[in-house]
Formats: sequence, C-alpha cells, structure tokens
Amino acid sequence: MAPGAGAMQNEPVILRDLHEVVARKAEGRRCRDSPSWRARAIVSKVGKNCWNMLPNWVLSTSLFLELGKLIHQAHVKWAGRHQTPATRFLRNVRLLELLRDIALKVPDEVKWRVTVMGCSTGAELYSLLWYLRSARPNLQITALGADAVDWVIAKASSGEYSPEDDELSWLTNPILESLFNHVDGVFRVKDWIREGVRWTVADARSSKLLDELGPADLLLANNFLGAMSDQEAEACMENLLRLVSPGGYFVFNGNLDVKTRFAKKHALVAVNEGIEAIHFGDPSRLGWPWTYFASEPLDKSRPDWQTRYAAVFMRGVEIAKSTMGRPAKFSDLGQYGTRRAS
Ligand SMILES: C[S@@+](CC[C@H](N)C(=O)[O-])C[C@H]1O[C@@H](n2cnc3c(N)ncnc32)[C@H](O)[C@@H]1O
Repeated sequence: MAPGAGAMQNEPVILRDLHEVVARKAEGRRCRDSPSWRARAIVSKVGKNCWNMLPNWVLSTSLFLELGKLIHQAHVKWAGRHQTPATRFLRNVRLLELLRDIALKVPDEVKWRVTVMGCSTGAELYSLLWYLRSARPNLQITALGADAVDWVIAKASSGEYSPEDDELSWLTNPILESLFNHVDGVFRVKDWIREGVRWTVADARSSKLLDELGPADLLLANNFLGAMSDQEAEACMENLLRLVSPGGYFVFNGNLDVKTRFAKKHALVAVNEGIEAIHFGDPSRLGWPWTYFASEPLDKSRPDWQTRYAAVFMRGVEIAKSTMGRPAKFSDLGQYGTRRAS
C-alpha cells in the first residue's frame, strides 16, 4: 500500500473531515461559476432581503416559524455540514456568566474539574477560566482542553495570539488588557488564567475517552456536534456524558431535535436561568434562517421548550428522576454539582 494511502486511513476522523472541507471549498470555488450555484445564491439573497423587510410580529407567527425551518434545512443541505476551528474569546458572555454563577455555589474545599472538549485554539477555556478564577480566586479548579486537531492544541497551549487573529476580534481594549499581556506585538494570556491548564489531543468519539481525560464536574462540548450527522452526534453525546460526574454539568449544543431527545433519554436537568439570553448570546449564531449555524427563534409553545433551548444541563441524581418536564430552577441546584477534594 502506498504510504500516503495508509496515512489517510489511520488519520483521525476529524482530520479527514477538515481535509474534506478544504477539498469541498476548492470544489465550491469551481462550483460558484456553475449556473445552479448562481441561481441558488440569487434566490437566497432575494429571499433574505424580503424576509428582513417583514415586521417582527409577522416573522414570529407559526407560519413563518415553520417556513423558516424549511429554509434553514434547505440552507444546511445546500451548504453541507462541516467542522471548522472558528472560535472567539467571550463568544457567549451570558453563558459564561451562568457558569460563573454555578461556580459561586461550589464549596471552598471542593476541587472543581473543568473540561472543554472541542476547545480549538483555547479561547473558550481561557474565557471561562477568566470568569471562574476572577469570581473564585481560592477555589481549586483543574482545567483541561481537548481537541482532535493537534495544531489548534499547540496554539491553545501557547496561549499566544496575534492582533489580527479572529479569536480576539470581539474584544475591546479594556478586556484585552485584563486578559492578556501585550508584549512585542503578541497577546499572551495572563499567567493566573493559564496556570495549570492541561491541553491534549483527543477525539470526542474515542471509546477510551474517559481513561484519556478523566471525569469532569463541568464539561463543555460546544459548536462541533451540529457538524456531525445526527447519528454520529448522538453517539458522541453518549460518549461525552460518561465523563460528567453525577451532579456535574454538561454544556452542549448541536441539532436541537437530537439534543432534546438525548437530554430526555438521560433525564438531564435543564438549567433554566437565562435560557433565552444564552440561546441568542453568541453573535455568530444570529441571522436565522439564512445562516448555517444560526439559532432558531424560541418556540415557547412547545411543552419541552426549556429542554430544547437550554445550553446547560445537570446530570442529576435525585432531582432528575422526577423533573423531566419541570426543568430545575437555579436555586434547586445549590447542593449539586460538587465533589469533595480527595
Ligand atoms: C467551531 S470550533 C468550536 C471551538 C469552541 N468549542 C467554541 O465554541 O468556540 C469546533 C472544534 O471542535 C473540534 N472537533 C470537531 N470534532 C471533534 C471531535 N470528534 N473530537 C474533538 N474535537 C473535535 C474541531 O477540531 C474544532 O477545533
């Protein structure tokens, strides 16, 4: 067998995905000259302009919600699902605030294990640690960032970003000063934020994931499950949930039907504080139904809307048994999600 062919076969699936994206992009550039691509682009542009002219009360009727879902589905089908390493510091401030509020309830003597799976170049984990360590300077937090791609882990571990990097593009000068030391044109995450973070290459689908990463009291798996097929995403969620300690928190997104089915199956308890603000808290997910990654509008007529739109779930023990259909209130959670230091 040719060496190249062997290497491709043993390559982690995620790398094959990323290579496919590059190939598809090159193909896309060729396709853009095709009549069918141009026709779809025109229909999409005209449709989007008409949509944006309609008043909000029309767009929030059930007719337009259903129409929007069809447009979004067609858009995803047209664009195709794909993985990207795109990430930003302070990507979803409302989510970070909720996670900080959860950390505020963790008793002092607890050692809190925080893992970010699919961490890309580190912006999400560093942003989280900035919030957590600012709010709880004396809490022992062990932090782990994992991603299937080695070059993003190398960058995350360096903690260094250049002023042109997309990761920094949403930050104001005062925030840049709080997060980084700016030396010789490089922004370096401050030591008290970086301290003790472990960065590792790992595939979220690996059957050895628990051995590789260990359990977590807070596990984030944001913005990569939606790029998988529904079946693959659900299997991946199963794999990831095994890492979450009983009473711990699982923060994840992806296809809303898949996420809701999974949360119900495992009686995960949706944390209902700030659901709406967090659902729309990531500016890169605005623009529904015309953008691939966009978040659909909240449909509060659904009996399961809190489970569907929540970002943060608790892997409960006692309260989970009785509460599917009654998502937990933040005040319910005080006694959960903690583990005594060994
Ligand atoms: C869009 S980025 C999201 C980064 C960060 N979580 C955020 O929300 O800003 C998705 C990352 O997930 C990683 N990823 C995708 N599939 C993965 C898998 N099976 N295991 C581990 N990482 C994966 C990609 O390599 C990429 O760096």
